[in-house]
Amino acid sequence: LLAGQEGTPQALGSGFAPANIALCKYWGKRDDELNLPMTSSLSVSLGALGTRTDLSVRDGGDEVLLDGELVPPADSFAARITSFLDLIRSESGPGFRVATQNAMPTAAGLASSASGFAALVLALKEVMGWDLDSRALSMLARLGSGSACRSLFSGFVEWHVGVRDDGMDSYAEPIDCVWPDFRIAPVTVSAERKSIGSREAMRRTRDTSRLYEAWPAQVAEDLLAIRAALRERDFVRLGETAEANALAMHATMMASRPAVLYWRPETLETIRRAWRLREERGIPVYCTMDAGPNVKLIFLRESTAAIESEFDAVEIINPFETATTAKSEY
Ligand code: PMV
Repeated sequence: LLAGQEGTPQALGSGFAPANIALCKYWGKRDDELNLPMTSSLSVSLGALGTRTDLSVRDGGDEVLLDGELVPPADSFAARITSFLDLIRSESGPGFRVATQNAMPTAAGLASSASGFAALVLALKEVMGWDLDSRALSMLARLGSGSACRSLFSGFVEWHVGVRDDGMDSYAEPIDCVWPDFRIAPVTVSAERKSIGSREAMRRTRDTSRLYEAWPAQVAEDLLAIRAALRERDFVRLGETAEANALAMHATMMASRPAVLYWRPETLETIRRAWRLREERGIPVYCTMDAGPNVKLIFLRESTAAIESEFDAVEIINPFETATTAKSEY
């Protein structure tokens, strides 16, 4: 990927990338080193909510800061960044100071590695002077964290599974669909650190869950439905498919030996509340859940008041709001 890109690093660079939430999930790798997925996936990026990374070259080893605080090098957050930097630099260096700031709703459980690695790749492009297109940058971000390849883009984004062993055809691309009324709201049920990281959980699911055998076919079907729903702006079809896809993903995990179970009682309570809104009041609101206990609601702008009255202090995100008008948390 970086052949012919060697140059003298610039002193400073920075990048911003949005967080993203998958509507058709990525779960399971065919290559654990290159983060090559078993299936394609499709997400929506969260506009101005994401990560900003400022990067500078420094003598000595790397230094990682998160929201202004120095992170100990042995901490898994700093260690992942350093091993990613090791992938892209020669043995003789340089060292980097990586200052990362997350602009996320307070404790919404959205701070993810996806926006972090995508922002880091953009900052590196500037510092290293890489002449790379967004496809190449997406593949680089994928090496840090699979879902990071989708955070290079705004709006709806599809990550193409690819067939090559070297991963050179496994990258994300934006989908031509602007939907200003689309809304997403994280409902935080627990701010606890997750019990098992996605890397290990994916491996266990792939290797021990019988239900996982059905997952690729399910994704193929769901992707077709979601692409069609986006084309036709059919929100009910989109929501139904995204919710069913998330539940199917969690079913594959629960059938792992030993089980991978991210849900807490409040997760299920939140899902049931959303279902009640749908059944009793006809509000088209759907749920999606990732590798953690929190729930993200998806709905349309017209349902905002109903969502706000049912879910206390919920922060509602408009993925298509431009950065200049969005409420930023910086
Ligand atoms: O990229 P990772 O290793 O953080 O995995 C992300 C997995 C899910 O969030 C559960 C699904 C997805 O497609 O984002």
